[in-house]
Amino acid sequence: MAVITYWGHACFRLDEPGKEKLVFDPYLTGNPQAPLKAEAVEADYILVSHGHGDHLGDAYAIAKKCEATIIATAEIAGEAQGKGLKAHAQHIGGKHGYPFGFVKLTPALHGAGIPGGHACGFVVRYYGRTIYFAGDTGLFGDMKLIGELEKPDLALLPIGDNFTMGIDDAVVAASFLKAPLVIPYHYNTWPLIEADPQEFKDKVEEKGGMRCVVLAPGESFQL
Ligand code: NI
Ligand code: MN
Repeated sequence: MAVITYWGHACFRLDEPGKEKLVFDPYLTGNPQAPLKAEAVEADYILVSHGHGDHLGDAYAIAKKCEATIIATAEIAGEAQGKGLKAHAQHIGGKHGYPFGFVKLTPALHGAGIPGGHACGFVVRYYGRTIYFAGDTGLFGDMKLIGELEKPDLALLPIGDNFTMGIDDAVVAASFLKAPLVIPYHYNTWPLIEADPQEFKDKVEEKGGMRCVVLAPGESFQL
């Protein structure tokens, strides 16, 4: 059974016993919510949504230690390869197969954090389950298309406002994506992005048909 684990801010691990471990946006060093140190992370693939420090975070250090492959846009993958790390470059709209399934890059309305780049989100097919990780993004109408085309089983959505969607826009995003399960992130790391995940959960579930699970940093949920 696949398990999603929240490590605070925008960092998640997706794994299944005996299978590849995927880590999203590993910002642990300096993250007040981080339940573990970067040195303790084991990963086979590291998905990096953009170059801001609270997402690229410890990606290169973990990739080096674990000989993990970074999956990111060409600009970040190129930078990683320039440091002698393993990286697979993709770009928005492109899908690539991996032993666990596939990764497809989606648009994200946000800064790249690296010259010439783009921020992205990810649709990940992992042993039969489809997970949409929105990255840092504002609400956009094509999330409806992501919902229709990819039919995610789980949507991971930022709710902290200021840099990304806030609660009300994320509720609309959830209604566009139609994933039966929604998990919020990118909130309460700092006072600037304070948000009440219970308010988000209530509003999402009130819209009907979907379940919202709020994970405290360090908590896991079996998919
Ligand atoms: Ni950002
Ligand atoms: Mn961010």
